Amino acid sequence: MSGVTSSVIDVDYEQPGEHAGSACSTRHAWARVPPEPAPAERAALKQRIRELLKARNAVMVSHYYVHPDLQDLAEETGGLVADSLEMARFGRDHAAQTLVVCGVRFMGESAKILSPEKRVLMPDLDATCSLDLGCPTEAFSAFCDAHPDRAVVVYANTSAAVKARADWMVTSGCALEIVRALKEQGQKVLWAPDRHLGAYIQRETGADMVFWNGACIVHDEFKAFELEALMREHPAARVLVHPESPAEVVALADVVGSTAAMLKAARELDAHEFIVATDLGLLHQMRLHNPGKTFIEAPTAGNSATCKSCAQCPWMAMNSLAGVVRVLEQGLNEVQIDPALGRRARLPIDRMLAFTAALKNGQPLTGLVPHLGAV
Ligand code: 13P
Ligand code: SF4
Repeated sequence: MSGVTSSVIDVDYEQPGEHAGSACSTRHAWARVPPEPAPAERAALKQRIRELLKARNAVMVSHYYVHPDLQDLAEETGGLVADSLEMARFGRDHAAQTLVVCGVRFMGESAKILSPEKRVLMPDLDATCSLDLGCPTEAFSAFCDAHPDRAVVVYANTSAAVKARADWMVTSGCALEIVRALKEQGQKVLWAPDRHLGAYIQRETGADMVFWNGACIVHDEFKAFELEALMREHPAARVLVHPESPAEVVALADVVGSTAAMLKAARELDAHEFIVATDLGLLHQMRLHNPGKTFIEAPTAGNSATCKSCAQCPWMAMNSLAGVVRVLEQGLNEVQIDPALGRRARLPIDRMLAFTAALKNGQPLTGLVPHLGAV
């Protein structure tokens, strides 16, 4: 195995003040980026993972933002590479008793909450998310207490304890439909934690919403001015944007959607060039499945500025082939959730999964959107 050690990087993120509505302060976190293995080591690690998955009756579930090797291996071995909505669904429905979740902490936690009887392992349990970090449970609870008349809708990118305060969990793949259904029932919404996604949903649905003030350090960095310049250089390109991006960037998009929706657009739109505003991990899938098309990274840094993440989530980058081997060999890094907390946190996730399943199958949504206080 490689003797090169991981490099630790500092990551700044925003955290809203003690009182809802007060300004964000900058906090610091870190990420540990493992070294790239040399070609021979890389091949050996991949082979070892194939063997271990079989031997341990385990399945790999990877997010589109992790290293391409971990995406490809998940697909090749009968696991899944997907957005966070499909990752949650797949882990729950698959027969394997061990799930290896390659992504960030909240993804492993969602898998464990939905399958408490399964063993959920992650290459690195310290892989977090600026949205999760920026929404601490106590302050969030106080925010909810201040708005008892609102349905609490939280994004998947939150801790189990925050989900346990919620009426609904949503992902970017279903947030619009769920908030629209709540609005149709006359419900007002408390939204957390991503302010850009929340504002996008409000613009699209016209729902009455109050917001937590969190942001994704990756998507928050896309720049509208520079994107317009790039669009002028590539006038035929279609622009695909993840809704965690700022409103001015979203306004320039041909398609706004989750990672899965962006992939679908790349496949189905009648265009040969695309400008993509999301983590670069998704471009691997786009290039893999659309060999004749060109995918261009949207700009993250303004004129003479530097980018913080450069469109690569530092926490997603903590997942590595060596990490998967380690956890499978040693049974390390098991995600643990207090069972009572897990049962409460499961309610908003189950509600989302029931809603999205009905939507997908064209079934009536009646009864799937309970009145406030029905939790
Ligand atoms: P998706 O739900 O679109 O996969 O996004 C998850 C995420 O972390 C985006 O930054
Ligand atoms: Fe969180 Fe952003 Fe990383 Fe997704 S890309 S895990 S939202 S920090």
